[in-house]
Amino acid sequence: MQGVPREENRLSALWSPDGWRTREARQMPEYPDAAGCASVEQQLRSYPPLVFAGEARHLTDALAAVAHGEAFLLQGGDCAESFAEFHPDNIRDTFRVLLQMAVILTFGAGCPVVKVGRLAGQFAKPRSEPTEEHAGTELPSYRGDIINGIEFTAQARAPDPERMLRAYAQSAATLNLLRAFSQGGYADLHHVHRWNMDFVAGHPAGERYREMADRIAEALSFMEACGINSANAPAVQQTSFYTSHEALLLGYEQAMTRVDSTSGDWYDTSGHMLWLGERTRQLDGAHVEFLRGVNNPVGVKIGAGISKEDLLALIDVLNPQNLPGRLTLISRMGAKAVREKLPALVRAVRSEGRLVVWSCDPMHANTVKSASGYKTRNFDSILEELRGFFDVHLAEGTHAGGIHVEMTGRDVTECIGGGQRISEEDLSDRYHTHCDPRLNASQSLELAFLTAQMLRTEREKQAQRSPE
Ligand code: PEP
Ligand code: CO
Repeated sequence: MQGVPREENRLSALWSPDGWRTREARQMPEYPDAAGCASVEQQLRSYPPLVFAGEARHLTDALAAVAHGEAFLLQGGDCAESFAEFHPDNIRDTFRVLLQMAVILTFGAGCPVVKVGRLAGQFAKPRSEPTEEHAGTELPSYRGDIINGIEFTAQARAPDPERMLRAYAQSAATLNLLRAFSQGGYADLHHVHRWNMDFVAGHPAGERYREMADRIAEALSFMEACGINSANAPAVQQTSFYTSHEALLLGYEQAMTRVDSTSGDWYDTSGHMLWLGERTRQLDGAHVEFLRGVNNPVGVKIGAGISKEDLLALIDVLNPQNLPGRLTLISRMGAKAVREKLPALVRAVRSEGRLVVWSCDPMHANTVKSASGYKTRNFDSILEELRGFFDVHLAEGTHAGGIHVEMTGRDVTECIGGGQRISEEDLSDRYHTHCDPRLNASQSLELAFLTAQMLRTEREKQAQRSPE
């Protein structure tokens, strides 16, 4: 990846990968060993890119279809990947639940699905409090495995730059496996039954999935009889799967940012898509400054507090050319606020002619503490925010373009409710997350079925509005 950036490219014009360093950077660690940090970043600069610019452009194209109302974005995975949970089975299980969710949405709503994992790089976490206190001892908060350790000791909590190298290596190995799964036959639609995990099969969502898989198998054998099969139709045999993470640790992101020799443009090669969190999207802040110059598709989280003026200003900085697919707005407002706050924003964006993908993160504004002190989320609140999101778009005539969820393929008990009726008392059984509570495999399938219904309703309404 070499060459000179094209002058006429407005995203990279008057921009440099280190320009963010003169801006206020929230949520970033202060490395006690600054020289060690600089040396790690130098090393990373010489490492191979994790993703290629051409792949990021394909994702932008796929997201452009979402912006035009012709496809749906499914983005999901861990809140925080961790070094401790790095295991091929975990990657496979999350991947296959995402595949199942995608199939449910594609089949249930008749709509192409763009699959993006919160995977292979989702290591850095913004925190509400800079420090944490236990039994009279105060230590820096855990900020994700790429920065410090989760154990409550002064040593673990000290930011350690060497962790960036380990996160890079884990991302590379994870991505390698994901590429193999998506291209190497695992994702072949003929395996649609096999993706269902034993522990899910007996739950209501698992059974519903099995019934749907039967119908897909029937459709496939019909298509085969017509001459369409895995050998001559690549879409049956393999799938496109992309990676994403929050662009929080800017030293790492900068080190992974390279000029693409084909286009001459800057790309952050740490993942296909990068997003900005609710806490680091200040217009004049370091994170916006960094992200505005890379040509990957980007996302930004939008909480209930944002004004339409601030939103439009943010859109102008992040997508000055108004390219469809470049910018995804991920609203995360809470089950109640979404109905009150989202309509004015959607209207402003539409009336100003801005082309964006609207996606819904129904997780982050619905986090509560259980009586026993677990950070959790209620399935009903998650669903309620999603319904609010779809209702708003239905009323405005815009496209509810996607969902952004924290989920895992494992049988955890971190979110309350769903068909399994996980209760507050159950949380302690299998609560494994390093950060926020995730939907487990059956809750994820259940949410996908409910989302497919809402998407189908939207598409039927649209067809009525514009009969061909
Ligand atoms: C997250 O996605 O894990 C996150 C911290 O989200 P937000 O920035 O919306 O709070
Ligand atoms: Co989270």
